[in-house]
Amino acid sequence: MTRPSLRIAVLASGRGSNLQAILDAIAAGRLAAEIVGVFSDKPKALALQRAREHAIPALAVSPRDFATRVAHDEHLFGRIDAVHPDLIVCAGYMRLVTEREVSARPGRMINIHPSLLPAFKGLHTHQQALDAAVGEHGASIHFVSAELDGGPVIAQARVPVLPGDDAATLGQRVLEREHPLLVETLRLLADGRVALVGSTVQVDHRTLGHPLQLDREDRLVPTPSGN
Ligand code: GRF
Repeated sequence: MTRPSLRIAVLASGRGSNLQAILDAIAAGRLAAEIVGVFSDKPKALALQRAREHAIPALAVSPRDFATRVAHDEHLFGRIDAVHPDLIVCAGYMRLVTEREVSARPGRMINIHPSLLPAFKGLHTHQQALDAAVGEHGASIHFVSAELDGGPVIAQARVPVLPGDDAATLGQRVLEREHPLLVETLRLLADGRVALVGSTVQVDHRTLGHPLQLDREDRLVPTPSGN
C-alpha cells in the first residue's frame, strides 16, 4: 500500500525561498508531499504570494490584531489545524511559538535555522559566526520546542567560512545548502523514517546520537564517527 502524501503547512515571515524549494521538489516528483496552507505574521510576506501563485491557501494573522501572544497563536494555530497538516514547517518564521501550541503538537513541527545548532541561536547568525571567527558554519533542521531554536536537531548542512566573507556572502552560501537540507529532511519525514520520541530524534527506530549531515551529493548521512 502506498503511503498518502505528507500534508505540510508552512509558516513563513519573509521571502519564502525555502517554501519555493519545497514547491519545486514536489513539482519535480522528488517529494511525496502536498502544501496545504501557508501562514504568516506579515501580510506582505513574499511567501504568501508564492503560495497564491500555486493556488495554495495563504493567510496572514497579524500579531497586532491580538492582545497577547497566546491569543495570536491560538487563532493562528486554529487556522492551521483547519487545513489538517501532518507536519508544520517553520521556514523563516520570525516569531517564537507559544509553549501551549508547541506542546499540543509533539513531533509535528520543525524549523530551519541558519547555524550549526546549538551554536548561534536567534538572529544575525551569519554575523555571529563571523564574529566568533569559526571556520565552519551552516544550517540545522530541528523539531520545534518552546525554547528559541532549542529543540532536538534532525539534520545539518555545513559550509566553510571563507576569507573575505561578510554576512551577505556567508548567508548566501548557507542558503544554497538550506534548500536541499530541507527537502531531504522532508523526504525522510514523508517516508515516516523520522520521529520525535520524548526529547530524542529517532531515525528508522534508532536514536540519533548526532544530527544527520547533508553530503555533497545532497544525501543525508550519519555524522562520521569522531565528530
Ligand atoms: C532562512 O535563512 C532560514 O534558515 C531562516 O530564515 C531564512 C528564511 O529564508 N530561519 P526564506 O524566507 O526561506 O527565503
